[in-house]
Amino acid sequence: MNRTLIKDALTDAVVGSEITVAGWVRTVRNHKGKNRFSFITLNDGSCLATIQAVADPKLSNYESEVVHLTAGCSVVVTGKLVESQGKGQSVEMQVDEVRLLGAADAEVYPIQQKRHTFEFLRTQAHLRTRTNTFGAVARVRNVICAAIHEFFQSRGFLYVHTPIITSSDCEGAGEMFRVTTLETGRDDFDADFFGRRTSLTVSGQLEAETYACSLGSVYTFGPTFRAENSNTPRHLSEFWMVEPESAFCDADDNADLAEDFLKHIFSSVLQRCGEDMEFFNKWIDKGVIETLTHVAESEFVRLTYTEAIEILQKAGRKWEFPPEWGNDTQTEHERYLTEEKFQRPVILTDYPSTIKPFYMRLSDDGKTVAAMDVLVPKIGEIIGGSQREERLDVLTERMKAQGLNPDDYWWYTDLRRYGTVPHAGFGLGLERTVQFVTGMSNIRDVIPFPRTPRSAEF
Ligand code: 4AD
Ligand code: MG
Repeated sequence: MNRTLIKDALTDAVVGSEITVAGWVRTVRNHKGKNRFSFITLNDGSCLATIQAVADPKLSNYESEVVHLTAGCSVVVTGKLVESQGKGQSVEMQVDEVRLLGAADAEVYPIQQKRHTFEFLRTQAHLRTRTNTFGAVARVRNVICAAIHEFFQSRGFLYVHTPIITSSDCEGAGEMFRVTTLETGRDDFDADFFGRRTSLTVSGQLEAETYACSLGSVYTFGPTFRAENSNTPRHLSEFWMVEPESAFCDADDNADLAEDFLKHIFSSVLQRCGEDMEFFNKWIDKGVIETLTHVAESEFVRLTYTEAIEILQKAGRKWEFPPEWGNDTQTEHERYLTEEKFQRPVILTDYPSTIKPFYMRLSDDGKTVAAMDVLVPKIGEIIGGSQREERLDVLTERMKAQGLNPDDYWWYTDLRRYGTVPHAGFGLGLERTVQFVTGMSNIRDVIPFPRTPRSAEF
């Protein structure tokens, strides 16, 4: 079909030209009386805005179809682009032809012309992208993904694909979904499809490390799975993660990369998603544009975990979880640091080894590892990463201490056996990034079809 995108019709098309647009009806107003007209607003997903099409009774199907159009109908409209008479838009269409592709019974169409709650729209995930909010989220998510690839491609990082089915537990937390073709209850791995215990991956890191340790700088970007029973606005059972990994890179280089990377994403969205960001700023999170602009321009704070614990202990407030050296930071701590104390992103480094996975490099103090978490206002942790343990003996000890059998990870330890090098990387949660950028408060609303405990519809 030779159609013009509504985005282009509204910004680029020549007034007076004949164009064809296609989309879904958002609203219809039928003016009765002497001057009969129908105002149809259409959206095709190319942008947030709708185009207004003005249809008059001379159309052959005016009585039979046009006056009966309702929200959700799909139509192809041909007509002349003219300066708009009304308020709110600069151009509109004078319709020559309306072709109805698919009706949408107004009695039962779930996306009515009123505000729906996000909870309700989650039950209509297959249609919710027809609303302003979910269309805007989809477009911003797309721009973020494009910016991610641009960033790494422009720096010579190789895009690699790591497996989704795996037999290793990267994060060592045991929160993995089993992959099996056995009937329930059987644990006879030898008889199973792969002849071993397999799961959905929690991270592509270990495999990405192998590529980095031959090819230099690489990144993976794909779905990851966690079977933790967390029902929070920031946890999904299936989420997307970007994981760069660089050889000849230490913890400081890693933090620099993470900061540049986030700033690139934020400024790309500000540059390219003007209309959608205005929408979020007005309806979802007042001030989100200002926050994003501020973050894209300010230097991130860098603090060690130990310094952070001291700051939190001296903050003079009642914590639900009193901060104590050796315990993981909680959301309330992360929010205090990023929203109150520093009012910008904070990169926390050098965590106690006991609360971090086996692969993180042990520091000379013997107590901390070269870990890094990037915390942002409202969301908390958006990135987790580290310099990796490149010394075979230390790595093997750390594995044993965490209950892993080094023999199971022979290929991973081989990287330390043959030409080991310092290397580092991190993982950025895509959905938390979309949340931060848009101000959407629930992670279930920034991924098309969310998977969470007891929820895998669609
Ligand atoms: O901190 P995490 O667990 O780090 C890793 O998996 C490392 N292997 C990454 C690496 O070094 N290559 O997860 C990284 C990020 C978190 O900071 C968070 O943004 C996101 O992934 N994340 C989740 N997002 C949504 N739902 C969940 N359940 C998430 N768990 C982690
Ligand atoms: Mg983490």
